[in-house]
Amino acid sequence: MGSLSNKRILLGVTGGIAAYKSAELIRCLQGAGAEVRVVMTPAATEFITPLTLQALSGNPVSLELLDTAAEAAMGHIELARWADLILIAPASADFIARLCHGEGGDLLSTVCLASHCTIALAPAMNKHMWESPATQSNVQQLRAQDLAIFGPAMGYQACGDIGEGRMEDPATLATMAGDLFNCGLLNGKKVVITAGPTREALDPVRYISNHSSGKMGYALATAAMEAGATTVLISGPVQLAPPERVTTIAIESAEQMLEAALQEVEDADIFIAAAAVADYRPASVAVQKIKKNNDEMLIQLVKNPDIVATVAGLAKRPLTVGFAAETENLEYYATQKLRKKNLDLVIANDVSDTSIGFNSDDNRVLLVQAGANTALPTMNKNLLAHKLIEHIAGLLKTAH
Ligand code: PMT
Repeated sequence: MGSLSNKRILLGVTGGIAAYKSAELIRCLQGAGAEVRVVMTPAATEFITPLTLQALSGNPVSLELLDTAAEAAMGHIELARWADLILIAPASADFIARLCHGEGGDLLSTVCLASHCTIALAPAMNKHMWESPATQSNVQQLRAQDLAIFGPAMGYQACGDIGEGRMEDPATLATMAGDLFNCGLLNGKKVVITAGPTREALDPVRYISNHSSGKMGYALATAAMEAGATTVLISGPVQLAPPERVTTIAIESAEQMLEAALQEVEDADIFIAAAAVADYRPASVAVQKIKKNNDEMLIQLVKNPDIVATVAGLAKRPLTVGFAAETENLEYYATQKLRKKNLDLVIANDVSDTSIGFNSDDNRVLLVQAGANTALPTMNKNLLAHKLIEHIAGLLKTAH
């Protein structure tokens, strides 16, 4: 896994002799962990065939703006939404000029107009074309619009000139692309996260559960994925869509969650238990629906396995992070859980406040660990998840 782990790169190839290098560029981007799709301008197809780039990228190459088949599958809006980065390499003087003026006459320029992601250009042209006031003014304008300009490099040119205008070499472009993402904190690491409630069956139609929506755990899974980790989310029943680029395992009961967790943590670096696991389950599950024959009914419960404590007790254990959902004495109970469950970090939330914690969009937590505790202010769970992943990545670094 490299600096582009989990990243989706749309490679735009425009017409220029450097187009032949886009084949190697695909390999370099994939080598850094990216998934690559290719859009070619009509002029680019004069220099390298779509078939070559299709075979290397493993995805169909998109060529035409007005192609009904392509629009039905992955049209310009889907391509624009799909990409984390649009890298145009080589970017010809003509394409740079058209992009600068907001033209949308072909598929690639339309995708650029429709996209909110970062766009990077690797200019490639004769040195006089590069130096021309028109090209320089266009590039300046694009820089001012926050487009990244990679190169061009100095050296021999296909036309025999020597100077600035060569496309940067593919390995350098892949590195520059990786540097655009403020991520990579967990590149090459595996993170396993539990989320949501568990359901403990009483009979075929009834169960014991709680109000966890899964929002906190799902936000953590997305943040871990964005930090470059191979991420596995073990989720109880929730109303959320599985996060993209995360392996999601659906479970119902605590016992099923434990089984999935033990399987997944074998090669994991970090385990984060955000799930609200039912502490007890019915001692027996009725085969048929229980009838309401009596005015009172007693249900015998037995203790569920403690998943996070079991993982923390493994001989070969990942860095293990638990949550503590408390309604009183937050710091005291969280510190107890840190010790009793042998955890590296406890993320404590006061769930007596209904504006945070269970089923809310926000949370406010206290980070409890050996040494100093840190309080974080109330914030959206997505933002909090990024801060927590940053903190946990720091703990992993110091642990090694
Ligand atoms: O899902 P949301 O609606 O977004 O809400 C988020 C949340 C409030 C559920 C989350 O922030 C949270 O606090 N999760 C842990 C809830 C909980 O069960 O806390 P606890 O204090 O009872 O358990 C302590 C830790 O042990 C937790 O990491 C829990 O996952 C784990 N545990 C508990 C019991 C058990 N049998 N196995 C466990 O692994």
